[in-house]
Amino acid sequence: MHTPVLLQPALDALNIRKGGLYIDATFGQGGYSREILKRGGRVLAIDYDGSQARWLNKSDKMILVVDNFSRIESLAKSYGFFPADGVVADLGLSMDQLAGNGRGFSYKNDQDPLDMRINKSSEVSGCDIINSYSQEKLYEVFSKNSEEVNSRSVADAVVVSRRIKKIETVGDLKKIIDGVVGREDARTKARIFQALRIEVNQEFANLKLFLEGAVGVLKKEGRLVVVTFHSLEDRIVKSFARNRGFKETGKKNFGFQKRSRFERSAMLRVISKI
Ligand SMILES: C[S@@+](CC[C@H](N)C(=O)[O-])C[C@H]1O[C@@H](n2cnc3c(N)ncnc32)[C@H](O)[C@@H]1O
Repeated sequence: MHTPVLLQPALDALNIRKGGLYIDATFGQGGYSREILKRGGRVLAIDYDGSQARWLNKSDKMILVVDNFSRIESLAKSYGFFPADGVVADLGLSMDQLAGNGRGFSYKNDQDPLDMRINKSSEVSGCDIINSYSQEKLYEVFSKNSEEVNSRSVADAVVVSRRIKKIETVGDLKKIIDGVVGREDARTKARIFQALRIEVNQEFANLKLFLEGAVGVLKKEGRLVVVTFHSLEDRIVKSFARNRGFKETGKKNFGFQKRSRFERSAMLRVISKI
């Protein structure tokens, strides 16, 4: 069972009141939703991955939908959660998805196809992108989505390699990255895979739509709580709050605690609707 790192602080920040309406935009394995219910709130839970969105403990206080959180405003209206008292998003993928579900999210499972779609009905996979984008476009995807210093050389090597053989599996892409770096380098692999996943799922664009939608959905003084796991995502949340003049009422950086590397980069931001 995945224990969400910032569950308690995030839920405290949401300031749940009994009978209030809350949207859990990233249901995952339901840790946040379960806690909202426990604290007396009603929940509209969203997850884009149909295989994540399973909820065994049926409750008349919760609705679970498989959809993209970029559509939060219309979902909230359709399901009677408009306006809402609070919205929470725990971004990224769950440990479960990363550990290996045959979709190539992690660079660790060589045999996995380079799929990377969070929702299986999305049209474009990682394999499509790697084999069709121009050298320049690949460079842009890698550098903008991960700030990896080897982005240019990896893009060049991808284009050379796919002329010989289509790049189809995690192992195929890994071999190319290792060839560029000249040694086994976990960080470069993690960054390039993450960059590709972000492009496949349009994660930054969807996050921006989500933030706009979420503040549209909130009641006055309602809270939007967002947990991010990498700095580029955090930057989007931070600049959204600043540019739109929303009050940031809380920020917690877990960078100095002795936790796993994954958890060390976690950041919690709380935005209050004025
Ligand atoms: C870190 S996990 C959330 C874990 C959750 N808080 C829990 O307690 O189990 C992130 C979840 O967000 C989902 N997700 C990612 N992008 C999404 C999107 N655009 N719309 C809706 N859900 C998305 C993923 O499928 C994943 O299940």
